[in-house]
Amino acid sequence: GNGETESIFTLVEGLKPRHAMIVTPGFAEYRRALQWGDCTIHEFALREDDGWQLTDAILDTLTSELDCLFLCTPNNPTGLLPDNRLLREIAARCELLGINLILDEAFIDFIAGEQGFIPLLRDNPHIWVLRSLTKFYAIPGLRLGYLVNSNEQAVAQMRRRQMPWSINAFAALAGEIILHDSAYQQATWKWLEQEGARFDRQLKELPGLAVYPGRANYRLLRCDRADFDLQRAMPEQHVLIRSCANYPGLDARYYRVAVRSQEENNRLLAALRKVLSGTTPAD
Ligand SMILES: Cc1ncc(COP(=O)(O)O)c(C=O)c1O
Repeated sequence: GNGETESIFTLVEGLKPRHAMIVTPGFAEYRRALQWGDCTIHEFALREDDGWQLTDAILDTLTSELDCLFLCTPNNPTGLLPDNRLLREIAARCELLGINLILDEAFIDFIAGEQGFIPLLRDNPHIWVLRSLTKFYAIPGLRLGYLVNSNEQAVAQMRRRQMPWSINAFAALAGEIILHDSAYQQATWKWLEQEGARFDRQLKELPGLAVYPGRANYRLLRCDRADFDLQRAMPEQHVLIRSCANYPGLDARYYRVAVRSQEENNRLLAALRKVLSGTTPAD
């Protein structure tokens, strides 16, 4: 697909769900795609008390009324990967209830050694895996992603729904090359392991900031300073960070920052240090 985004819309167009469940906070495009059709959207709210981690509580909310369930593994914006045991239980329950389970693995490539659900698809035709190449391979402008399912007929039906000519020649060529670039893959895993750990340590030392243990190339932060707008203060340090205030389930205290090069991360950390040290803690 033209990025994973196109595949999300193709999938929804093909499945035509009447009742779909999404998880909040989560990636916005599932809701947008579902709103195009005649679908009632059910929400499963992750809880701050659970550290925003998906819990067994979701199992009881799955009923035969649902046609599909969207899960993002690891989730955006938390970066948290649900427990494998729980994912398998969800998959079994979805099969029993006739629910299509859609797993968005857009960021899973960042987790070294994590295979995701593609190896398990053969015996699970009710599971659809969405993948993006724009994140790990840093080609957001080229646009490339894919959708995997083990039922050939279902896949052919989806293909018929796909927008014609959605993949341009440059993206097609990049796709043939990047997936075999093991040197790049190894270097990316090494960078994220080392620089991600250093970044986490330094972020945690900052006063008034809670850091969630995300496993992708970004971190969710909560700023616990009363009456203090971090997003407004940061541009004065020439850094703009992503406010998560527009994620249903989160509020203006939450931010998402990317793990970047050591030099760039140091700039971000220095700016945060400067901004945060000039304010008073909430309590
Ligand atoms: C969780 C998640 N899934 C899918 C996408 C879409 O990726 P793509 O650039 O391949 O369309 C994004 C983009 O931000 C995302 O965050």
